[in-house]
Amino acid sequence: MKLRTDPGLTFDDVLLVPNRSGIRSRKDVSTETWLTRDIHLHIPIVSANMDTVTETRMAIAMAQVGGIGILHRFMSIERQAESVRRVKRAENMVVEQPLQIEQTATVSQARQKMAESDVGGLVVVDENRRLLGVVTTRDVLLAEDGQTQISSVMTPRDRLVVAGPGETMSQARLKLHEHRIEKLPLVDSEDRVIGLITAQDIVKIQDHPNATKDNRGRLLVGVALGARLSEDMARAEACAEAGADVFVVDIAHGHSEHTIEMVRQLKSRFPSIQVIAGNVATAAGVCDLAEAGADAVKVGIGAGSICITRIVTGFGVPQLTAIAECSEAGRKMGVPIIADGGIRNSGDMVKALAAGASSVMLGSMLAGTEESPGAPVVRDGRRYKVVRGMASLSANVERRSIDGKGEVADEDWAEVVPEGVEAVVPFRGAVADIIYQMVGGLRSGLSYAGARNIEELWEKAEFIRVTPAGQRESGPHDVSKI
Ligand code: XMP
Repeated sequence: MKLRTDPGLTFDDVLLVPNRSGIRSRKDVSTETWLTRDIHLHIPIVSANMDTVTETRMAIAMAQVGGIGILHRFMSIERQAESVRRVKRAENMVVEQPLQIEQTATVSQARQKMAESDVGGLVVVDENRRLLGVVTTRDVLLAEDGQTQISSVMTPRDRLVVAGPGETMSQARLKLHEHRIEKLPLVDSEDRVIGLITAQDIVKIQDHPNATKDNRGRLLVGVALGARLSEDMARAEACAEAGADVFVVDIAHGHSEHTIEMVRQLKSRFPSIQVIAGNVATAAGVCDLAEAGADAVKVGIGAGSICITRIVTGFGVPQLTAIAECSEAGRKMGVPIIADGGIRNSGDMVKALAAGASSVMLGSMLAGTEESPGAPVVRDGRRYKVVRGMASLSANVERRSIDGKGEVADEDWAEVVPEGVEAVVPFRGAVADIIYQMVGGLRSGLSYAGARNIEELWEKAEFIRVTPAGQRESGPHDVSKI
């Protein structure tokens, strides 16, 4: 047995000491960072792969503001892959494989296809993919007879404005405006459909200049995986096929042989996809995962708002110490560190970054937003949303039924040893508003540090330990809050 007598520290145990600063405005600092060895972000914020935090809507919103979302894994493989496809379709310079329909299909089939895939239009093609027309929600939504054939409601080929393969964004924008149209199909010399540019996509691109995108202009998205070699490889395969950009091997005790093996296998099977692995809380954990090929390591054992791992198992490392030790190892190994869990405000995020993390993962801070899964619940006239630990009782039981074990028997409930809880958080509106506040706090923090960017923050940060009296002084005190 070894006993470390230095106390592990967490966010409330420290403050950052202000430095002389040459920064005149919060606009003069950069919040850019690396999520992994190869993925760059405009803001260092990742939404957690929890089933009360990140599904399609959250992943889209996070990538649009310059961060990224990680789709949780407690859903079927098909559903997770479909979620990836939805994110990848949400914003495009060019929709490369626009959804198609045959001209003999019916109006109700077109409606159903659009609703299922959440798109506003379909290209109508013949058996050789040659363009016959375009049908949009406007053409089908109010049609009285659902059995009407598409050919009689679509805009036919001879009335369509089209473009060729080399169409630039500004040419497309001009055409869409001149002809007051919303969709511009791209065709090859044989009139086969090779893409689609939509007015809506162009507007989205303008609205989200910092969006996290791949080289084809599509939003980036990550997917969480477990470490079961056969089943999770099938999950990885399906999500890679759907266009996932990053895998997150998400294991409660990530410093384990099976996580290491999973990372190795993923890197050899999918060399072009970045792999994040975790969670760990020690330098040794970072080194082992990085050696296995991880492109970033997620740090945090028991720090999360809904975690009871430390109470149930006695294990964990206070989060600020864990981040500092892991970041030092991460720098030696050349992998960025993601600080996961326990962040309650922008100050905590600045401390996590100052301690060496390249980005932070947020769970319950984002669980109360419009974009998190589920509807708000009303209690005493106030709106709340549910957040639950992925190792909580209900999440465990639900997972058993998703895993195909069918109805969950009473004894299965008794078998579970939960390491997480369920809770509610206040409904907080759009995620973009929360991110705006967080990034504003970070910009201000960088200016207090005299740092122009996150790397300079690592160099210049000086922490000071605080006493309980110091902690009290840090919040509003001696006033009645209204
Ligand atoms: P926050 O504090 O942002 O933390 O809500 C989110 C992180 O908590 C982790 N997590 C869990 N940890 N039991 C745990 O010990 C759980 O049931 C559980 N569910 C989530 C996870 O790392 C997440 O990103």
